[in-house]
Amino acid sequence: MRMKRALIGCDFHFQLAYKLACDEFADKAKHDGPWDALVLAGDFWDIHCLSNFEKNPFKTARFLEDELGEGREYLSRLDMASKAKNKVFLCGNHEARITKYVYRQAPYMAKNLNEREILGIPDDWTFKAYNRSGCAQLGPLIVTHGVKCGVMAAKNNLVKYMCDVLTGHVHRNASYSATGYNGKPIHSHTIGGMWDVKAVEEYQLDVIDGTRAYAEVLYNDTRYEVITHTVK
Ligand SMILES: [Fe+2]
Repeated sequence: MRMKRALIGCDFHFQLAYKLACDEFADKAKHDGPWDALVLAGDFWDIHCLSNFEKNPFKTARFLEDELGEGREYLSRLDMASKAKNKVFLCGNHEARITKYVYRQAPYMAKNLNEREILGIPDDWTFKAYNRSGCAQLGPLIVTHGVKCGVMAAKNNLVKYMCDVLTGHVHRNASYSATGYNGKPIHSHTIGGMWDVKAVEEYQLDVIDGTRAYAEVLYNDTRYEVITHTVK
């Protein structure tokens, strides 16, 4: 059976994305096809201005709209570059900051909230909010942003989802395997982010860690293979 191909990128954290990594990803989308799917797997934007964490006032955008511009331009570049049949935008916990902000600050407007419209996701993309349905299915593999942190995130995601799963969120390449209830092996993969590690020094408590990477998935109905591309 023919193997389909999907290109997966996550954790760009615009306006903190690393330009060279973005260029490489866009080139891959444009020149290394054909792609069956292009999946952005969460935290495409940082949404720094709505963060609950302590903020550097010199770096905080005054309005959300100002912070979204650079990411929207890159999304449109990807949209034009990729001929993938399925384009999927999965929200991460950072996009979910918009929802949380409205729930907290303007709860009576929650019914008017349209995250897709606020972010500017093109109509022909599949859009999934950050919740239980926020995943893309590539044969036996699910792709989702993930919720588990720390050095054992790959293991903890496997325990959480109990199926073959690929996530972002922790900005590191890692994998973990176990045997499922049916006696067959299952695997969890975490892939690195595409953000500028230097630009986010203030988030780091001590030594800067993390990997800049994106992934390519070959898949059909019964099997898949994850190829991780680490960006220097
Ligand atoms: Fe992230």
